[in-house]
Amino acid sequence: MENQVFIMEHPLIQHKISLLRDKATGSKEFRELISEISMLMCYEATRDLPLKEVEIETPVAVAKTKILAGRKLAFVPILRAGIGMVDGAIAMVPAAKVGHIGLYRDPETLKPVEYYSKLPKDIKEREVVVLDPMLATGGSAIDAISIIKKSNPKSIKFMCIIGAPEGINALKSAHTDVTIYCAAMDQKLNEHGYIVPGLGDAGDRIFGTE
Ligand code: PRP
Ligand code: URA
Repeated sequence: MENQVFIMEHPLIQHKISLLRDKATGSKEFRELISEISMLMCYEATRDLPLKEVEIETPVAVAKTKILAGRKLAFVPILRAGIGMVDGAIAMVPAAKVGHIGLYRDPETLKPVEYYSKLPKDIKEREVVVLDPMLATGGSAIDAISIIKKSNPKSIKFMCIIGAPEGINALKSAHTDVTIYCAAMDQKLNEHGYIVPGLGDAGDRIFGTE
């Protein structure tokens, strides 16, 4: 099975990503932009949610109209930087539950190291959307998804703001069943595993820890 990969071309998303890339953008504005972009991406990533028809009485007449057919979602940010995307996502889907996977990338080996995992108890009944602004080598996303798969969710989508071609390809081959939503695909990785041109270290810019 071939993964679906959606690159977001919406003008509002592209405009906000340009502001995010600017090294002069401070933490407060950076956090706000991450949250706004996540909200817009979530709008795209929930396009396939099923609807059912209901009847609602308006002040004028009875309307045959549609509501969500009750599919359950869980957002799972990869710590730390994924946390920045949670507010925007749950603003769109307030009933979603939130799990957390803690991973950091060893600066020498560039391999992810797991330090935390807590997922909703009913994850088997849920469709999971994994959140991380950066998909660089793909190691963190691949490991996080492998951890989540052990709990047998109904499906998994991965949402990142900036992806390197290396990371997108690695994730596609490691998890062929995961749909990828990426707001911008950049050129390459540099020798330190940073996305070029990218936006720098997302976690440091969100939390002001540079
Ligand atoms: C960043 C980012 C991803 C990871 C991407 O996290 O948020 O999780 O790097 O790199 P990869 O695709 O090569 O694995 P980082 O390891 O810097 O941890 P932090 O969010 O705690 O700063
Ligand atoms: N993690 C980041 O935060 N930025 C990159 O460019 C690569 C990995």
